[in-house]
Amino acid sequence: MKRIPKRTTVTAALPYANGPIHIGHLAGCYLPADIYVRYLRMRGRDVAFICGSDEHGMAITVKARKEGTTPQAVVDTYHALMGKAFRDFGISFDVYSRTSSAKHHEVAQGFFKNLYDKGVFEARETLQYFDPEAQQFLADRTIVGTCPKCENEEAYGDQCEKCGSTLSPTELINPRSTLSGAAPELRPTTNWFLPLDALAPKIRSYIDAHSDWKPTVYGQCKSWLDAGDGLQARSMTRDLDWGVPVPVEGAEGKVLYVWFDAPLGYITATQELFGADWEKWWKDEDTDIVHFIGKDNIVFHCIIFPAILMEHGGYQLPAEVPANEFLNLEGRKLSTSKNWAVWLHEYLEDFPGKQDELRYVLCATMPESKDNDFTWSDFQTRVNSELVAVMGNLVNRVMVLNYKYYGGIAPAIRSLVTNDDQLVLEAIGAQRAAVESALEAYRFRDALSEAMQLARLGNKYLADQEPWKLVKVDAERTETVMAVATQVVAALGTLLEPFLPTSAEKIRRMMGISEANWSALDGSVLVSAGHPLGASELLFDKVEDEAVERQRAKLAERATLVVAEVAAEGVTPVAALDPLKAEVAFDQFAALDLRVARIVAAERVPKADKLLKLTVDSGLDVRTVLSGIAEHFAPEEVVGKDVLLLANLAPRVMRGVTSEGMLLMAEDPATGRLDFVAPGAGMPVGATVR
Ligand code: MF3
Ligand code: ZN
Repeated sequence: MKRIPKRTTVTAALPYANGPIHIGHLAGCYLPADIYVRYLRMRGRDVAFICGSDEHGMAITVKARKEGTTPQAVVDTYHALMGKAFRDFGISFDVYSRTSSAKHHEVAQGFFKNLYDKGVFEARETLQYFDPEAQQFLADRTIVGTCPKCENEEAYGDQCEKCGSTLSPTELINPRSTLSGAAPELRPTTNWFLPLDALAPKIRSYIDAHSDWKPTVYGQCKSWLDAGDGLQARSMTRDLDWGVPVPVEGAEGKVLYVWFDAPLGYITATQELFGADWEKWWKDEDTDIVHFIGKDNIVFHCIIFPAILMEHGGYQLPAEVPANEFLNLEGRKLSTSKNWAVWLHEYLEDFPGKQDELRYVLCATMPESKDNDFTWSDFQTRVNSELVAVMGNLVNRVMVLNYKYYGGIAPAIRSLVTNDDQLVLEAIGAQRAAVESALEAYRFRDALSEAMQLARLGNKYLADQEPWKLVKVDAERTETVMAVATQVVAALGTLLEPFLPTSAEKIRRMMGISEANWSALDGSVLVSAGHPLGASELLFDKVEDEAVERQRAKLAERATLVVAEVAAEGVTPVAALDPLKAEVAFDQFAALDLRVARIVAAERVPKADKLLKLTVDSGLDVRTVLSGIAEHFAPEEVVGKDVLLLANLAPRVMRGVTSEGMLLMAEDPATGRLDFVAPGAGMPVGATVR
């Protein structure tokens, strides 16, 4: 059994204030954090739920430059927008703070000074790129150049988005500043490094003590520690002008590294929340600190932040870091900068009052142990076949029958309780226990499905007992059945509270219950006989095809815009592209027999709109290949074309015709247009591609 802490400080990653909140943020961190906190509150535990906007860092300055405004204006806009969207969605933060506040600057500077005075940092002079025209040092993201690995001319100083390599600015060929376009010069500058290399043994023993963390989290920590050259010292200061000024002499024009200041924002926010009484939430041994984050934040929360806290002293280290993997959207990586997202504030406008529907679907598909995909069709199916058909149906039937038979007064258990009655009543306690153990282990999907299971059992119970038939023959037994079903619905009004707070509250209102009471899910009577029920309310209604179509159309339009916008900038439109497939070994590639071939004849295939039957000269033979291009090419357009043929693909019979190979095609992601991949001019038929 897990030790129960005296109090729990739950944090959710401070989102960058450079764009609105999208479903990936929600599924990755805010929703699980909120479910967990609501659950702890219901158990009567002392909990503080901490969040705020992360208002420093390059993401903000890049956005400001792009929009021709100031970083402060950017963060003011998004801080307000995000705070509102979280509230409207029912994320129940106790405090939502921000890191550009004077108070936070004080806290962050205080931490830096503390470590600085103890001599924790190593001052190091390094050569950094400096823009002679803009007269400033350049952050990695503001330098572009040619990737040394793939020759992409638009690689960033920290990463090439085309081939995915991690880079450092000095590796770029022909670097240039995105501020002025000038070629940057290397200039010496001093920064203060946190010696993670020297601290590695301490960090390692901290991590080793947490081998019970999620395997994805623990594994990532181990791989940082065990990397070839181990942990590297990392600079905690930057030559930038947006951020918390470095509070030491000789550091003019420098600010704290955003990953130094941001996690300290949790502490600032706690101070705002509790005033003078804040310290126990961070320093008391009986306090558990739990960080909800996405997987890209693991190293910062499990290694760098704990190292900072250790060196400062007096603080508890994070006890749990239940990081999630990523959510994709319709098969593509979500991206703020590329506008590939379902934005929370837009969802709330398009689906007013339906925050629980989104909470439900995001929780049911939460990327807990691997990346997962959100699709609108899955959203529709889950809402319609689970929320409407199971949960809504049960609650609705119980309300309707209670009004019809008993005038809205809770029925009483009259006759002897049967085995079926007993089983479903006992399921209340059993499902509560199952939800508890899943939530204590941060298994949110399981927890939700255990809660839903009670609704399923309730539905099945009604279907089996058929009170609408029973009522004609046995009034007493009918009333017992309805009383049992009413208990089940009342239990759902509490059990669902962490997941679907709005709907749970509606259920409680309908049941005439004022407060959720978790401990009463132990067989206690939840709605006593004779108690007046509330008015019926609609819990969920169906998501129609048109609503889903509209959302898909919105995305399609965005994908096209992304392509157009990025094309105007002259950069490959990454967001609209299929994600990179898993790596293959050279041998797998070499096993493909690819050849230059010529299409010598072509005809349509009867009753197959998409297929052309092609006769292809591979150099070795003349063969038939079926190709799904009939919507893109007329037969006469393709005859005579030189193409690339996958010649050793296993033959396949389609429409009674055997296809012996495949032609390589490229598909335009924006328009869906297909075209042949052509060999260079003059390459003879039969030539091998390798
Ligand atoms: N802003 C960061 C992100 O969105 C998260 C910061 S978490 C904190 O990835 F701990 F640093 F605040
Ligand atoms: Zn590259």
